[in-house]
Amino acid sequence: MAVIGGGQLARMMQAPALALDVHLRVLVEAKDGPTAQVVPDVVVGDPGDLEAVRWLIGDASVLTFEHEHTPRFVLDAIEKMGTPVRPGPDALQFAQDKILMRRRLTELGVPCPWWTTAATRDEVAAAIADRGGAVVAKTARGGYDGKGVRVISTPDDVADWLDVPGTVELLIEELVPYTSELAALTARRPGGAGPDESTGEVRSWPVAETRQRDGVCAEVIAPAPELTPALADEAQRIAETIAVGLGVTGVLAVEMFLAPGDDGRPRLLVNELAMRPHNSGHWTIDGAVTSQFEQHLRAVLDLPLGDPSPLAPAAVMVNLLGADGPEPAAAYPRVLAEHPGAKVQLYGKEVRPGRKLGHVTEVGKDIETLLTSARAAVELLHAATA
Ligand SMILES: Nc1ncnc2c1ncn2[C@@H]1O[C@H](COP(=O)(O)OP(=O)(O)OP(=O)(O)O)[C@@H](O)[C@H]1O
Ligand SMILES: [Mg+2]
Repeated sequence: MAVIGGGQLARMMQAPALALDVHLRVLVEAKDGPTAQVVPDVVVGDPGDLEAVRWLIGDASVLTFEHEHTPRFVLDAIEKMGTPVRPGPDALQFAQDKILMRRRLTELGVPCPWWTTAATRDEVAAAIADRGGAVVAKTARGGYDGKGVRVISTPDDVADWLDVPGTVELLIEELVPYTSELAALTARRPGGAGPDESTGEVRSWPVAETRQRDGVCAEVIAPAPELTPALADEAQRIAETIAVGLGVTGVLAVEMFLAPGDDGRPRLLVNELAMRPHNSGHWTIDGAVTSQFEQHLRAVLDLPLGDPSPLAPAAVMVNLLGADGPEPAAAYPRVLAEHPGAKVQLYGKEVRPGRKLGHVTEVGKDIETLLTSARAAVELLHAATA
């Protein structure tokens, strides 16, 4: 299997790949990155370089990804050469471009925040006037970890995005007064036991709550604690509708807002999509029968999907973001002694402020107890000095 992207997500595919004896060959940014440290067969190159991607594919039976940044012309060329690309370019475009995503989800009848597009200052001003105040502006492509997302109240706030050669279209959305953010994680493969051929096999994990700090995912709780069973079902149904409607193969993460509707009752609105394993699903490594990484491999190989059931009533995951010392693992003697239930993953990255360096998962019964311990474990890793 060929994989594009050499960060922590492709790294975490390697454990289930070893278990299933699936050979991974990965296109990485650097020879010493998180994935290259654990996968021997790597090609160093850029996803926009068709020659590099052809090298990567070689005799692989399928191509998949850990991120959305492979240009369409490369994907189309690889498909033409006869290697399946999963998720395929027709699905992946909706995770690559937030304007295309909004259009398609609206067509599918999926609940979205109010949205429009704007290519000029006047259009941005009109959208702000329409909403009567602050709105959220997003670049259609290339955003991650909140970069490319701004709350704005005047066109000046996006002057740098608009004043570039050529036309850029921005996505403008209502500023959703959400009470929490959710992630509905599902996986689909094209074959299998669907009621009709286009459905395929679809399996979903319990919906999780995600908590961001400065636009970056900081904590995940599964199942989402304050979600009623009816809303949890609805969130799962929305994710499955999108997986089937867009023909996604592999893991699909649907980020959602829980926000009061006009009648004051909570409702779900879809924020955005990721078609790959996602930070909101790291808890599944230790907290579910089948992890998102194993499921992604099964799905893109069109093998029967595994059981996504949780192993315990609750799981929490806390990200290690940046660190004070160069070597978080220096804290292992204390972390592992004081938190025997903590499952630690470090990604082998060089320490930089705000960077996702690893995470800690704890699985059990009581969310508050699990969170207290996982946070304390991350705090120790954060403070570690070599
Ligand atoms: N319409 C909105 N109203 C209120 N808050 C929003 C809105 N859109 C985005 N946000 C906030 O900004 C965060 C980042 O937005 P989004 O998920 O679109 O950006 P991203 O950078 O592409 O994604 P990621 O952070 O998942 O890599 C969201 O998690 C949410 O907290
Ligand atoms: Mg997001």
